[in-house]
Amino acid sequence: MALKENIQSLLTQVGELKANNAEELEALRIKYLSKKGEITALFNEFRNVPNDQKRELGQMLNQLRQQAESRINALREQFEEAAAETDHPDLTRTPDPIALGTRHPLSLVREEIEDIFSRIGFTIAQGPEVEDDKHVYGMLNFAPEHPARDMQDTFFIEKEIGVQKPTDVLLRSHTSSVQTRVMTSQKPPIRVLCPGRVYRNEAISARAHCFFHQVEGLYIDKNVSFADLREALLYFSKEMFGPETKIRLRPSYFPFTEPSAEMDISCNICGGTGCSFCKGTGWVEILGCGMVDPNVLEACGIDSKEYSGFAFGMGIERITNLKYRVKDLRLFSENDVRFLRQFESC
Ligand code: DAH
Repeated sequence: MALKENIQSLLTQVGELKANNAEELEALRIKYLSKKGEITALFNEFRNVPNDQKRELGQMLNQLRQQAESRINALREQFEEAAAETDHPDLTRTPDPIALGTRHPLSLVREEIEDIFSRIGFTIAQGPEVEDDKHVYGMLNFAPEHPARDMQDTFFIEKEIGVQKPTDVLLRSHTSSVQTRVMTSQKPPIRVLCPGRVYRNEAISARAHCFFHQVEGLYIDKNVSFADLREALLYFSKEMFGPETKIRLRPSYFPFTEPSAEMDISCNICGGTGCSFCKGTGWVEILGCGMVDPNVLEACGIDSKEYSGFAFGMGIERITNLKYRVKDLRLFSENDVRFLRQFESC
């Protein structure tokens, strides 16, 4: 009989209903369940069914409507879940593993030096890497024929490509050039730390590189003395290498300081008893320093009768080597992740 067959064929159709999106699903609901839908039409036909068949067909029709509704509801839930996921990503989900980078050891050490000096009032000053002779040498009291200016040390920059004329444009060979920049642009009191990259015409090897990093310190005020310099450096050494650290100052020469000294710290590897790192002496050299030469103050427009000051300069690679035993300088610029990963927890 027609109604029974219609119900059965719709039952199979309903069991296989599929929709690709919410619009398709709504079309299915209208097709089967709306007032003019196919199932509703069968219910209308049901009115004319003879009484003795009403029970059986009535049950079948109700089952058909239930199945259609539950199938359509199940499909609707699927779309709602998918939509909810795109609108509100699940924030509790474990993220895809993103490989974290590491801080470069030279940055770690530079920041530690900056941090230590900032606690005694030093601020950061920067200057250009491409400099002129005046700021790198002239105002720092280097005699015109000083060997540091020599082509073997300094990279000069050709003003016209391929034309090798004498030039006063160069890559700075030390961060002391930032001293002259600061002294000509600021009035004392001056208390600055100048970290940066410097360049020297050296063959690249484990112990030398054509670029490396320095931190320069400068303090200018009334009545600054050599004792202030010593105290500042002792404080730095203890903060950097531990409270047991001792320092010693050896007389030295730099054109821009008078008197000048080189500073050693007690070897932080053997504690001063002597090892292969300190060549059995118990001491390792870490920086150059001194009282700013009055000629430098005057060249920068600061009255040397009113003001005095101290300066120091250290190599960041050297300090990093002492802290982390990096023996080969080339490792710092090779970007080998196996080397860099060793500083992950620092
Ligand atoms: N500029 C020196 C160098 O590159 C380091 C240095 C020594 C800086 C003594 C200073 C200083 O400020 O007082 O070797």
